[in-house]
Amino acid sequence: MRDHGAPGISWALLVLCFALALSPAPQPAGDRTASGGAEVEIEPEMPVVALTFDDGPRAATTGRLLDELALREVPATFFLLGHRLQGNEELVRRMAREGHQIGVHTFDHVPVTGLSRQDFGLQVGGVRAQLRDILGDGEFWLRPPYGQADGNTRAWADSPIVLWSVDPEDWKDHDVSRIVSAVTDQVKDGDIILLHDIYHSSVDAAVQIVDELLLRGFCFVTVEDLLAWKGISPEPGTVYRSGR
Ligand code: NI
Repeated sequence: MRDHGAPGISWALLVLCFALALSPAPQPAGDRTASGGAEVEIEPEMPVVALTFDDGPRAATTGRLLDELALREVPATFFLLGHRLQGNEELVRRMAREGHQIGVHTFDHVPVTGLSRQDFGLQVGGVRAQLRDILGDGEFWLRPPYGQADGNTRAWADSPIVLWSVDPEDWKDHDVSRIVSAVTDQVKDGDIILLHDIYHSSVDAAVQIVDELLLRGFCFVTVEDLLAWKGISPEPGTVYRSGR
C-alpha cells in the first residue's frame, strides 16, 4: 500500500476507483480494507487522471454531460465563464452537488496576460464572487484562457493555476473519433485532459473516453484530488499541468 498522507483527498472517490479498477472481474470483498475512511488499499499502479471542461456552462451540452458522468460516477473539473452563469445557476449547483470541482475561466474568455490589476480582478475575482453567490464559499481555482499565464497572473491568481497535459483540440473539427483517439492514444497516469463542454461532439467524445479508460482501469478524479493523490500541495500562483 502506498503512503499518501495528503489532506483533503476524497476517500470515497478512491474507494470507488478501487472498485472500478477491479471490474469487470470483481474480487472478494475481503481484498479491500477501509478503516474509518482513513485507510484504503489501492492498486499502486492504478493510473489516475483528471477530466477538465472549459468555457461552460451551456445548458444543452453541460446538462447531458452531467447525466453521463453521473451514470458512471465519474467526477470532473469545470472551469466556468462568468457571462454564462446567469440562468445556469441550478446547473452549477448540480455540478457541486454531484462532486465535481468548479473553477474560474474568466468572465468573457479574455487572455488574462496584459490585463490591468483592476481588469484582472473583474475577470477572475468577479467570477469567484458570482460563484460564491451561487455555491457559497469555495476556492474556485483559475484556468486562464488559452493557457496563458505570466508573472502578474501568478501574482494575482489568488489560487492554484491549472493548465493541462493532454489537449485533443476538440474545438477544431468536432470529429468525435479523432478527439477520442487523440486522448486515449497518449493518456497516462497523472494527466489533466482538456475538453470543452459547450459542444455536443465533445460531450460524445468525453463519454467514449471515459468508457474506454474505465475499461483500461483508469481512475477519474478532480484536479484537486489528483494533486492530493500525487502528494502535491497546491499553492496559490503555482501552475499545474499534470499530477506529475
Ligand atoms: Ni477556454
